[in-house]
Amino acid sequence: MSNNLLKGKRGIIFGALDENSIAWKVALKANEQGASFTLTNAPIALRMGAINQLAEQCGAEVIPADATSVEDLENLFTKSQEVLGGKLDFVLHSIGMSPNVRKNKEYGDLNYDWMLKTMDISAISFHKVMAVAEKQEAMNEWGSILALTYIAAQRTFPDYSDMAQAKAMLESIARSYGERFARLKKVRVNTISQSPTMTTAGSGVGGFDVFMDYAEKMSPLGNASAESCADYCISMFSDLTKMVTMQNLMHDGGFSSSGITQDIIDQMTK
Ligand SMILES: NC(=O)c1ccc[n+]([C@@H]2O[C@H](COP(=O)([O-])OP(=O)(O)OC[C@H]3O[C@@H](n4cnc5c(N)ncnc54)[C@H](O)[C@@H]3O)[C@@H](O)[C@H]2O)c1
Repeated sequence: MSNNLLKGKRGIIFGALDENSIAWKVALKANEQGASFTLTNAPIALRMGAINQLAEQCGAEVIPADATSVEDLENLFTKSQEVLGGKLDFVLHSIGMSPNVRKNKEYGDLNYDWMLKTMDISAISFHKVMAVAEKQEAMNEWGSILALTYIAAQRTFPDYSDMAQAKAMLESIARSYGERFARLKKVRVNTISQSPTMTTAGSGVGGFDVFMDYAEKMSPLGNASAESCADYCISMFSDLTKMVTMQNLMHDGGFSSSGITQDIIDQMTK
């Protein structure tokens, strides 16, 4: 159902890898709500080809960019404004990757070169995206920039490894750049902290099924789906949330406020 919440708005959506990706669902909903946007992902991810199907569905152009490369990001922002015919109103950073998690490195035995890569891909890239947007004066006033994060930034979850540090940095960058962008351009910057979700990035974390099951039982509303996360992103890109900035917004069915739930008590008393 469309309420034309994003009618006339232009944006860039990072991170749609396949139809399970949160960014994929955001793209479909943004299209439904009247936005025009470009899609982007790392060149290696684009080679898998699935994104072209999404691009066709949304009438969007795909522009490759490794989010750790300032040069790629400059090209992406320049081309996106050309293709879309003006400055941007929204950006979704939906990017996460840790070589240490991928290669099952123990937390006590991290490869530090890989750890730096984790930080660059999953956190510093968010700073690079905003710095390029600022330098190119690519954002319209009251624009909205979002990144996706996870509660492992605040609490430990075994196997989330160095991604926990990356998410903590990502959320901190959102606050620091949010202050700057608000002052300079009235642009808002937030992170959405999403429930565990079955995607390529999610399922790369060890014991993910158990993670999801536990979170489901610890969340009075149950786990938030990728679909509902996309709805939340759309509302954050819309003009209905203009005064929300520098926030880490929990989108987790109540998980983050729960000490214990009846479901867990029932399970423990069995
Ligand atoms: N799935 C979950 O459980 C969950 C929970 C909370 C937050 N998140 C976050 O949501 C975001 C999206 O992840 P997802 O779950 O949709 O998984 P996903 O695997 O579909 O998306 C991750 C994306 O990051 C992209 N990427 C990796 N390296 C890149 C680079 N150098 N440059 C540009 N793009 C790059 C990948 O190609 C992929 O499209 C991530 O930030 C993730 O940490 C996921």
